[in-house]
Order: sequence, then C-alpha cells, then structure tokens
Amino acid sequence: MNLMKKILVAPAAVLALWAVSAQATTDEAIAERIKPVGVVCVQGDECAKQAAPAAPAAASAGRSADDVIAQHCSVCHTAGVAGAPISGETAVWKERADAKGGLEGLLQSAITGLNAMPPKGTCNDCSDDELLSAIQSMSGL
Ligand code: HEC
Repeated sequence: MNLMKKILVAPAAVLALWAVSAQATTDEAIAERIKPVGVVCVQGDECAKQAAPAAPAAASAGRSADDVIAQHCSVCHTAGVAGAPISGETAVWKERADAKGGLEGLLQSAITGLNAMPPKGTCNDCSDDELLSAIQSMSGL
C-alpha cells in the first residue's frame, strides 16, 4: 500500500512543480515582451544600472563616443534595426543631416527621439556633447 501511495504521489508532485515553474516562465516572458522600448539592454550592460535613478554625474562626464555607441546606440545602428541609419553609411546620414539642417538638427531629433528611435537613444544620462560625438562618430560627418 505504501509503495502504491509513493507511485501516485511522486508524479503528482512533479506535475505541481512543473505547473509552478511553467507559470513563472510565462510571467517573465510576458514582462519581457511588454517592457518599454526604452529599456534596451546591450550585452555586458547591467539593465539594473540603467534603471537606477541618477547615475553619478562623474560617470557621464567624458565617456568616449565609442563607449556611448557600444553601450547604447549600436544595438540598433549597427544592423539598422527598424530602419535606423547604419553606422558608417555616411551618405545616408548626410541625407538626414541635410534634411534637418545639419548635425545640430540630428542631435535635436536624437534628444527627443524619432519614431522607433527612443529619446537620447536610451542613453538617458548622456550629455548633449556625448550624444553629438556619438552621432559624429556613427555618421562620419
Ligand atoms: C531602439 C533602437 C535605437 C537605439 C538604441 C538608437 N537608435 Fe538612433 N535611430 C533608430 C531608428 C529606428 C532611427 C530612424 C528613425 C526614423 O527616421 O524614423 C534612428 C535615427 C537616429 C538619428 C537620425 C535622426 C534624424 O533626424 O534623422 C540619430 C542622429 C540617431 N538615431 C542617434 C542615435 C544615438 C546617438 C544613439 C545612441 C545614444 C541611438 N540613436 C540609439 C533607432 C535607435
């Protein structure tokens, strides 16, 4: 009789565990799918860091264009995600710059965001200068 019980209980426990973990996975998957576009996490980047209220001012002073691009822009601008102008394709960037009145115009739309392009390209603690040098570096302008 005891053995009979074990045979019945063990699979039930496994099923219950499976149900719980399947639920957790689903919730995570949903959270992942509905998270805002602005929360793009690049490999090697701790998303928790980005979400922290205010990064120390010193951290935003003097990041190189390459660092900003690697951490924030290349996720879209390397492959041209959602029609993003591709890094290094200067002619494409030049056309955009001409339409916006030069690099300053591109900077303005980078700050405010443009369609699928999130405000500040997700680099919320970037200064205008940091954004501008990232734009110059990606565009070659
Ligand atoms: C989530 C994807 C994404 C990220 C991250 C992103 N961009 Fe973009 N970016 C886009 C897309 C898409 C466009 C094209 C928008 C359009 O024309 O509809 C764009 C366009 C631009 C433009 C051209 C704007 C114009 O007026 O034509 C600039 C400048 C720019 N991005 C700068 C940056 C910088 C700098 C970063 C990093 C700090 C960055 N982007 C990060 C998606 C992104």
